[in-house]
Amino acid sequence: MRKHIVAGNWKMNNDLAQSVALISDLKRQNQTSNAEVMIAPTFTNLWHTTENLKSSPIEVIAQNMHFAENGAYTGEVSAEMLKSIGVNTVILGHSERRAYFNETDEMLAKKVDAALEHNMRVIFCFGEELADRQASTHESVVANQIKNALFHLKATDFQSIVLAYEPVWAIGTGETASPEQAQEMHQFIRKTLSDAYGDTVANAMSILYGGSVKPANAKEIFSKPDVDGGLIGGAALNAEDFYAIVNAF
Ligand code: 13P
Repeated sequence: MRKHIVAGNWKMNNDLAQSVALISDLKRQNQTSNAEVMIAPTFTNLWHTTENLKSSPIEVIAQNMHFAENGAYTGEVSAEMLKSIGVNTVILGHSERRAYFNETDEMLAKKVDAALEHNMRVIFCFGEELADRQASTHESVVANQIKNALFHLKATDFQSIVLAYEPVWAIGTGETASPEQAQEMHQFIRKTLSDAYGDTVANAMSILYGGSVKPANAKEIFSKPDVDGGLIGGAALNAEDFYAIVNAF
């Protein structure tokens, strides 16, 4: 059985006080689903958050990292640094990193390798832009993003990968892919994986959907057979909304 995962990506939101307040709100929520729950605060909030949630089932994860071990990379954070504060999972390839910070498939392949070398789990994000969907090239765009960054890996490496399909046109726009569009793409992704690595790898892969998931639409999206969870932006900044989504499974 594939894992259900709901991960909250806080992006560049919450200062220290806001982060502390949100964590205590999160701790007050009741979980009724079997989903694995993760939150990705900013780097400045990671340390206190891992400490604060040590005895909680919520896993604290990072939004990004550099591929190098250490050295002259001003402003960057390495896998080892994340591991040293108890962060074992990292989001890589978010469309905002690709669009605003010029992250390429090649760079992402290196980041994925660095994370796996440090026994970290990766939530690997990808997704087409609106123009790709309008030109009906969305499937090939997504297939290339996955192949270019991940298909040098061994089959067993995929045990440490979670995939997150986030169509760029649905992020922060209030416009969600329909449950049918999400299912169609997730099924295509699973087939792409199966063609390259076989059914065992493909069927064990958790594929999350991200893009304007809210309490009101989560249940319908999560009801689709190839949607194994969600990567949540805006709605993850409110504890009640976030847990309404967690409990939508
Ligand atoms: P929104 O839920 O705000 O659309 O953001 C989705 C996202 O980018 C999560 O990584």
